[in-house]
Amino acid sequence: MQKLEQVYEGKAKKVFRTDDPERFIVDYKDDATAFNGAKEGTIVGKGVINNQMTNRLMVRMEKAGIPTHYVQELSERETLVKKVSIVPLEVIIRNISAGHFASRYGVEEGIVFDAPTIEFSYKCDELDDPLLNAYHAVALKLATWEEIETIKKYAFAVNDVLKAFWAECGVTLVDFKLEFGKLSDGTIVLADEISPDTCRLWDAKTHEKLDKDRFRRDMGGVEDAYAEIMKRLLAHDAD
Ligand code: TMP
Ligand code: ASP
Repeated sequence: MQKLEQVYEGKAKKVFRTDDPERFIVDYKDDATAFNGAKEGTIVGKGVINNQMTNRLMVRMEKAGIPTHYVQELSERETLVKKVSIVPLEVIIRNISAGHFASRYGVEEGIVFDAPTIEFSYKCDELDDPLLNAYHAVALKLATWEEIETIKKYAFAVNDVLKAFWAECGVTLVDFKLEFGKLSDGTIVLADEISPDTCRLWDAKTHEKLDKDRFRRDMGGVEDAYAEIMKRLLAHDAD
């Protein structure tokens, strides 16, 4: 597989074309941003952790019957993925109040919901990723009703798998963001990453934050938190 020119650079990853028109290579960076790029920094070693963690979790999703873009890990930071066009929706599942849910609705963090919630944001940096509902997404032609139903079904299934796995690791899955893509034939698959950048992960006993909130909130110990969460994943991910 030959790595050809870069087709896209996001805040945390670069995407390259390959000699196979249906395959891309994703290259994970150590760059970290928050608040739509207003805060910038580096989390040393993050790219390696996020690449390897995402891939192991994507394999778990495939085993649970959730199709993903994952093909093969190529190096510490590089992964071969299926070429998709990203559905411009950020799909957020929450099990416990935190972050924007807490600030938007004026509640404290840590309220355990009876059932998980789902919300969508329009993936658009210029507009600061505004919250929208399924009707808005269809009106804006971001996705069809059928695609949204598929995305919802997969997102809740991801939550079931992820919540159970992190619980085995002594970690509480508070919330997370997913992105989905469309293959050339229109099939919806899980894309992007599943990492401490995109999930809130709390130690189950102490509720210590083991995710990017340590960077967003200037709490310190960012690299240690990423290393700790990776260590726990590796200890429980025997494949
Ligand atoms: P929020 O509480 O800020 O809406 O975040 C919900 C979850 O989504 C949290 O786990 C962090 C993740 N997230 C991203 O992955 N990218 C983003 O741009 C934002 C705002 C949140
Ligand atoms: N995606 C956000 C940014 O654009 C970062 C975050 O809060 O995760 O900077």
